Amino acid sequence: MPKADSPVTLPVAELAPSKSPSVPCENLDAAIRAARQRFVARNPNSGKLFGKAAEYLPGGNTRTLLYTAPYPVFMKKGEHYQVFDEDGHAYTDFVGELTAGLYGHSHPLIKKTLIDTINNIGLNLGSTIAQETAHAKLICSRFHLDKVRFTNSGTEANLHALAGARKFTGKRKVAVFSGGYHGAVLGFWDGVQENGVDQDDWVIGRYNDAGLAKRLIEKDDIGAVLVEGMQGAGGCIPGTKEFLMQIQESAKKIGAVFILDEVMTSRLGPSGLQAIVGLKPDLTTFGKYLGGGLAFGAFGGREDIMAVYDPRSPGSLAHSGTFNNNTLVMHAGFTALSEIYKPEVAVEFNRVGDSFRTSLQSVSKGTKMSVTGLGSICGIHFSQNGQTEISSRESIEEDMPLKDLFYMELMENGFWINKRGSMALILGTPQSELDRFVECVESFLRRHKSLVSL
Ligand SMILES: Cc1ncc(COP(=O)(O)O)c(C=O)c1O
Repeated sequence: MPKADSPVTLPVAELAPSKSPSVPCENLDAAIRAARQRFVARNPNSGKLFGKAAEYLPGGNTRTLLYTAPYPVFMKKGEHYQVFDEDGHAYTDFVGELTAGLYGHSHPLIKKTLIDTINNIGLNLGSTIAQETAHAKLICSRFHLDKVRFTNSGTEANLHALAGARKFTGKRKVAVFSGGYHGAVLGFWDGVQENGVDQDDWVIGRYNDAGLAKRLIEKDDIGAVLVEGMQGAGGCIPGTKEFLMQIQESAKKIGAVFILDEVMTSRLGPSGLQAIVGLKPDLTTFGKYLGGGLAFGAFGGREDIMAVYDPRSPGSLAHSGTFNNNTLVMHAGFTALSEIYKPEVAVEFNRVGDSFRTSLQSVSKGTKMSVTGLGSICGIHFSQNGQTEISSRESIEEDMPLKDLFYMELMENGFWINKRGSMALILGTPQSELDRFVECVESFLRRHKSLVSL
């Protein structure tokens, strides 16, 4: 695993894994009940904090994904590749802040950049700053964009990319795919957009169905296609080359703007997943780790499309955002991409991720568990019917209780993972921790053989 930064020696994990049950549990309900009892006994401080949080936040929560029953673990701090909870347990962090935490929790170069920025520059200057050009130039050259714009999140990046595409084509309808997630108001779970905006403007296809994508896109009223090269929140399901190329071709044929959402996937290689697959999207959206660990988003691509945002042109689109170019993120993001996540680091990091996933696939072979993903991003699945070929959200019925048990027991082994089953590696995680995770998964599958057998 490439180090977060070569001169730094990362501390060996002082994990406090508790003993997972050594007696095989044959009954899933009983196993979950027992795991929950152990959870409550292990995490009394989180329980108290949750009680307080629920007084002021609905469900004690301000980010739905982080809610878990009976209550979530409250983390107290993070260091390098580890997080530490309020009850004194240490975990190797495999959540990796859903891909944004690539550099870990205390990378010295990012820390230095943030402190220097605070000391020497100041926080919010309310003006254009030279550093935004530096970061824009770096992102344009790394991801082959003509022009780029910054936002505060991946959600905003997609909303602005869509607004730009609509302005450019004069058409409102957008083709998207079931299981796609493009931000807080842009989730298309099970073919339906919930909690969303522009409700009537979506045409929703099935992921990895190239024939259907062609039929849906090649219509007169489609102004844009928005797709992830690998569905992240939808289960870390990679798009096939055939599917993604079909989208590109169909969009081109009718003059629709092809927007590739690389908010998660741009870390999969030096120039993102698009370079690996050979795609040339009209616009690409970004976020997560490209802000160096701070709130960030960006969208960019073709000169003629991005020109709709040029304020020198009459009738241009407005693009607001108080913090779009804030000093901290412009400096931290630039340091992170130019000095830490260099092209060769990206290649090696994702090679390690591929080998980690292959090991997980190997130990879970012949069980209800399967592992999807690409490079440094993995998705853990447990299927109800033994389906282990996963090409779309519809292609698998997840066994949620089994997933729940996995989540709770792996946490007891000292691994911070999320209930959804998505994992994003952090730079500098020791190989021994990757190996230990694989061993613990193998032991989980052995321990619960009767529950996970096909
Ligand atoms: C593919 C994709 N697009 C967009 C977003 C939204 O990014 P943000 O949470 O920064 O708004 C996410 C977040 O997980 C994502 O995975």
